[in-house]
Amino acid sequence: MAPVEVSDLSKRFGTRVAVDHISFSAEAGEVFGLLGPNGAGKSTTVRMLCGLLLPTSGVARIAGHDVARHPVAARRRLGAVLGGERSLYWKLTGREYLLYFAALYGLRGADARRRAGDLLARFRLDDRADELVERYSTGMKQRLALARSMLADPAVLLLDEPTAGLDPVSARLLRDEVRAVAAEGRTVLLTTHYMEEADELCQRVAFVTGGRIVALDAPGALKRRLGGGAVCRVELAGWRPDLSLPGEAVAIGEGRWELRVPVSDPAAELPALVAQAAQAGAAVLRCESVEPTLEDVFVAVAGQALRA
Ligand SMILES: Nc1ncnc2c1ncn2[C@@H]1O[C@H](COP(=O)(O)OP(=O)(O)O)[C@@H](O)[C@H]1O
Ligand SMILES: [Mg+2]
Repeated sequence: MAPVEVSDLSKRFGTRVAVDHISFSAEAGEVFGLLGPNGAGKSTTVRMLCGLLLPTSGVARIAGHDVARHPVAARRRLGAVLGGERSLYWKLTGREYLLYFAALYGLRGADARRRAGDLLARFRLDDRADELVERYSTGMKQRLALARSMLADPAVLLLDEPTAGLDPVSARLLRDEVRAVAAEGRTVLLTTHYMEEADELCQRVAFVTGGRIVALDAPGALKRRLGGGAVCRVELAGWRPDLSLPGEAVAIGEGRWELRVPVSDPAAELPALVAQAAQAGAAVLRCESVEPTLEDVFVAVAGQALRA
């Protein structure tokens, strides 16, 4: 059995369906991504896997343990970094913070100090370990949260939007840490709405929208679903919903739109698209044909952009 097994899992809040019969599994050593826009149901899924929310129906297993029926056994194999927890416990130093959580896991004394010291070094916090966490940068706090999630040597790590709010350099360093954690044979389940992040980090990605998984595959395989062609991107001013142009128009600010159209023959289809847009009365500011990105696939499969 895979370290993460999700089978027909659903969650309703009143009449609102947040997670709608999703199934997937993630293997040891794999970074598995749940990719979707805000409100897709990613965090709700993670919170069920942590045992923080009870499923309405279906089963989630961590290292073989049903998280609803055997939450203690499941949690013992689990580390998690959830969103919205960055302001907790910051009156402690980084080292005290790890020792506090180590005690909760039953680690004490020299063992706890060694484990905390190792993790502080691993996540490049050792030179600031005895400073108050409230003085840490966002990137350092996030690395400390990752260190905390590793205290019990977990088989599975759940990371909910781990790079949200980080500057590009900190985000890249954190992605390197995540890759290293998986390379040790742990299963990393991460949620993100950054398609580049999912593309770079994940062996497999599930596209989530409206609580459902609408596609699940390796990033490369997902891109090949667009037919091995290219994507024409045409930047327009003066686009209106009533202009009937092919593809998906995404607002990119300042009254500009980008039309994205998967094509099989860009040399023929890009000029035709430009002519069609001009004829419809839109001003063409720029055009190019590029390799498809995961975002292009997401739009094609889910019918919506990730950054709405
Ligand atoms: N505790 C809650 N009570 C009611 N509705 C909720 C609750 N948590 C999440 N939701 C709703 O469930 C849906 C999925 O939310 P969430 O899992 O947070 O999405 P994501 O993490 O993909 O942005 C949203 O419509 C959200 O408003
Ligand atoms: Mg979320």
